[in-house]
Amino acid sequence: MAKKKIGLIGAGNIGGELANLALTKQLGDVVLFDIPAKEKFAKGKALDLEQATALSGSDGKATGTSNWADVAGADVLIVTAGIPRKPGQSRDDLVATNLPIIRDVADNMKKHCPDAFVIVISNPLDAMVYELKRRTGAKREKVVGMAGVLDSARFALFLARALDASIKDVRAMVLGGHGDDMVPVLSACTINGVPVRELLAKDKLDAIIARTRKGGGEIVELMGTSAYYAPASSAIAMAEAYLLDQKRLLPGAAYLDGEYGYKDLYMGVPIVIGAGGVEKILEVKLSDEEKEMLKKSADSVQKVVDVVKKST
Ligand code: APR
Repeated sequence: MAKKKIGLIGAGNIGGELANLALTKQLGDVVLFDIPAKEKFAKGKALDLEQATALSGSDGKATGTSNWADVAGADVLIVTAGIPRKPGQSRDDLVATNLPIIRDVADNMKKHCPDAFVIVISNPLDAMVYELKRRTGAKREKVVGMAGVLDSARFALFLARALDASIKDVRAMVLGGHGDDMVPVLSACTINGVPVRELLAKDKLDAIIARTRKGGGEIVELMGTSAYYAPASSAIAMAEAYLLDQKRLLPGAAYLDGEYGYKDLYMGVPIVIGAGGVEKILEVKLSDEEKEMLKKSADSVQKVVDVVKKST
């Protein structure tokens, strides 16, 4: 079987770590794409990463380019094109800058890799993935947004630390938009089946939820730019599920067509990722409180999507 081709659109901080993980995990050959002004940078990064394979023993090749023709035929595209947050900015503040970038990516993607499974990371996530799907006309199975895996990972880590538990045993699920209104589904959060609500007092749990909601912002304040290791790991888990037909149940931003009562909107819900892309959207039972939180989150996403729709 021929090696798979993974196109990374944006060769910045997340792009570099995506490439590193894809090569180390031997998922395929990697193409790091960036704008012409960053082509030499992308080529240099690719060369550095490829030299590292001499030590990891991975057979994957890495190339850097600013020519979309080099990305043609990619099996998976992971999109990080755009600018990241600076301290004091919300994800929604990025819409004016990142919208034209996503449109440029969508037009090229449609032309050069119409069959790719696409994972969008660029922020504001739910609106950017919506626009990419709208503009390309791709099927909803083929276009997904990465946020829920990351938000759930952050929640899981904070739970593990508070409980002095192994991270291996924590199951956490965060749904909704990738913003401050994200929805932690406590009924689905357990330490290997034991509900966290039985293990942690409400005030402690509330503090962890608040920290999770601001999890990205905490890192932006510390580093002056947004996170990249955990976002890259999260997207690679989704890419791997597709490439290896793992049928993983992961939270991800999927196009809703009536599920959970929402239509024509991308938002974080539990999905199954396998060789068919987003093979299923699971409608899990939510409590009234969780439904209300999801509504608030959907309203926030809708506001940004409306801004995007108006500027077409
Ligand atoms: N096509 C391809 N790449 C582009 C384009 C474009 N039209 N426009 C910008 N880029 C590139 C930039 O040149 C830069 O190298 O996208 C890259 C983004 O890299 P970083 O600035 O290092 O940002 P990163 O931390 O990787 O985050 C990227 O993901 O999590 C989100 O909020 C974050 O929207 C941001 C994105």
